[in-house]
Amino acid sequence: MFDQIILLCRPGFEKECAGEIMELANQKLFPAYIQTNEQSGFVSLVSSSNLKTDELITVVDFHTLTFTRQWFATSKSVLTLPETDRLPDILHITKNIGKLFYDVEMDYPDTNEGKSLSKFCKQFRPHLITALKKQQLLSAHARWRLHLFFTDSLHVNIGITPVENSAVEVMGIPRLKMPRNAPSRSTLKLEEAIHWFLSIEQQTRWIKNGMTVVDLGAAPGGWTWQFVHRGCLVIAIDNGPMQKALMQTGMVEHLQTDAFTYVPKKKVDWLVCDMAERPLHVSRLIARWFTDGQCNNAIFNLKLPMKKRLASVHECITLLRRQLSEANIKCTVMAKQLYHDREEITVCILCL
Ligand SMILES: C[S@@+](CC[C@H](N)C(=O)[O-])C[C@H]1O[C@@H](n2cnc3c(N)ncnc32)[C@H](O)[C@@H]1O
Repeated sequence: MFDQIILLCRPGFEKECAGEIMELANQKLFPAYIQTNEQSGFVSLVSSSNLKTDELITVVDFHTLTFTRQWFATSKSVLTLPETDRLPDILHITKNIGKLFYDVEMDYPDTNEGKSLSKFCKQFRPHLITALKKQQLLSAHARWRLHLFFTDSLHVNIGITPVENSAVEVMGIPRLKMPRNAPSRSTLKLEEAIHWFLSIEQQTRWIKNGMTVVDLGAAPGGWTWQFVHRGCLVIAIDNGPMQKALMQTGMVEHLQTDAFTYVPKKKVDWLVCDMAERPLHVSRLIARWFTDGQCNNAIFNLKLPMKKRLASVHECITLLRRQLSEANIKCTVMAKQLYHDREEITVCILCL
């Protein structure tokens, strides 16, 4: 029954999401084709042989997908539900899967149309959970999560995904609250990046009191704020003004200079960068900081205003990996289009 994988992405990035999963399916010798619509916020990878997608979804590492927010294996055929009692049909299919589930996630595309299903999904989920419990289909030890993907309240794809190889957050969208004193909404981008790329243990161990940070293109200070909030000392590079309250913490040194020529006096723990510059230009700059031994780790954005976005991402990531490896630097390079990223992705280089 599993002959398709549905991948959720940012609307407008379907081509990149599709290109990436096709490449990985090819690597795994999994014959497949793509079905998608522009701006739909999701992509379908359909099996074109008798190979099953619940296998593929366990062997492709979810964390290597840059443009996918969430994914699940499902059937090509969409279930049409009756208007009144939707539960029996859903339960029938769920039982036929023959697995136990750790949890249930209600999904819909991140479009205006999709968002109108949010209330319906919220109201329907508790009924479904009660019914699944009655049928003893939920287990705290199960390795699969059940997914119900609605395109409207009467049409659903029922799918499954490995809990350990998918997004923890519902639809891959973290619910972050804008901190009251932070200077800009960009702060949420860095907060999400820290949560996505670092485990809780790594966050407390590797971003802590007294650590040093350089923030390239820092003004008005949303990213700087995240580090100051964690007790770090930040050198903020930007010709623009930094938020007064942030400067009054005494934890920030503001240098009004060009980020491309600035050189730190000592190696810093973190380099971060959120400048609207050409991605290859930024990648070369970041690579140089590592090869010159000026930083231990980095988080930065690559803006993608061009047409061939996937090719540009590949070019930048390849350049970074090649230059670090040639300099014998052992690091992990990870890339993700985070929920708070718009026409951009976030890259993290960890040399912990
Ligand atoms: C998107 S804003 C950064 C927002 C910031 N991360 C925050 O959270 O508030 C980009 C900043 O990069 C700065 N910038 C762009 N090119 C620069 C350069 N060559 N040197 C220094 N700053 C630069 C701009 O002045 C701008 O303030």
